[in-house]
Amino acid sequence: IMRKEPNGEIGTLPPAETDWRRAVLVSEAHERAALWARAEAVRRDHFGDGIFVRGVIEVSNFCRQNCVYCGMRRENETLARFRLGREMILRTILEDLPASITDLNFQAGEDPVALRELVLPVVEEVAKEKPDLGISICLGTVDFRLYDDLRQAGAQGYIIKLETGDPEQYRRFQCPGTLERRLEAIHYLAGTGWSVSSGLIYGLPNQTADQAVRTLELLASLPLSGCSVSPFVPGEGTPLSSARAADLDETLNVVAALRLSSPRWIIPAVSAMNLFDPLGYVKALRAGANLATINLTPSTWRENYPLYRRNRWIMTEERVLRAIDEAGCEPRRESWLAFSRSPSA
Ligand code: 5AD
Repeated sequence: IMRKEPNGEIGTLPPAETDWRRAVLVSEAHERAALWARAEAVRRDHFGDGIFVRGVIEVSNFCRQNCVYCGMRRENETLARFRLGREMILRTILEDLPASITDLNFQAGEDPVALRELVLPVVEEVAKEKPDLGISICLGTVDFRLYDDLRQAGAQGYIIKLETGDPEQYRRFQCPGTLERRLEAIHYLAGTGWSVSSGLIYGLPNQTADQAVRTLELLASLPLSGCSVSPFVPGEGTPLSSARAADLDETLNVVAALRLSSPRWIIPAVSAMNLFDPLGYVKALRAGANLATINLTPSTWRENYPLYRRNRWIMTEERVLRAIDEAGCEPRRESWLAFSRSPSA
């Protein structure tokens, strides 16, 4: 795929489908190191040493979806469901916010009630009280009018992951709604002034290289300002609990391939990488990622937010700052949302 960047640059990799495949599957140690280093250099060319730092607050674990891989799926009856109170969220954000944070991400299961009754008023208040904070939302595919309301309330970023761009896999893993509707939502958001980020899970059970390549191609063709890749982790309380986990090195290859093909994208390091290797997060930053996330969810609730398992790796401010330092970088003092705008649809 050759793709014109908004500023007229052309992505350096991959010019053809086979190159995605080659990048993802590179397994020889020094070739792999060369790929990651190339991606790191491209990140430095475009962003210098600065890594964006955001805080995530997980406001509800109710979910009307039933994704086969996810511990919050509605059929997981072992989970105690919660919605945080407005006051608790506001206290966390307005009183105790770590100083390095420039952006907030509100995350939940697909819970339109939380969106309307909790996130909407909180976003309005935060946008008023802390106008310099970038605000992003990761709350699924909902009525498009709710997107408009959130934008109006002051949110600028929407994170809406594809997980897989392969239609057959999308259905089989019961990813949210339909792939078509997900894509419509991405185009709607980008066309109405949002910075849109998407993402994939790499290494879902029985995923073929073709399916991963197709997903990466589709993502690269969308009007996005960022994209994440999460390594598949067999989720507790899901039908995939005894499936095999993703390969971390291949996941890092995907981070590098995303950076090389879309040099200006915001690409997060994800905490699940540390479940595989204590240096996983640092390695992701060194393979081209440029966004780190501090978890702000009050600790009593965190364990009931099992994206993949109760014992998640929790990134505190201290851990995030150490990882950024170990990657030879600095926290960036500016919101990624101020920096990026989706190329509009
Ligand atoms: N492995 C990896 N990532 C997962 N997510 C959910 N379940 C898993 C899993 N088993 C991620 C997906 C989803 C987000 C809520 O968490 O990317 O979008």
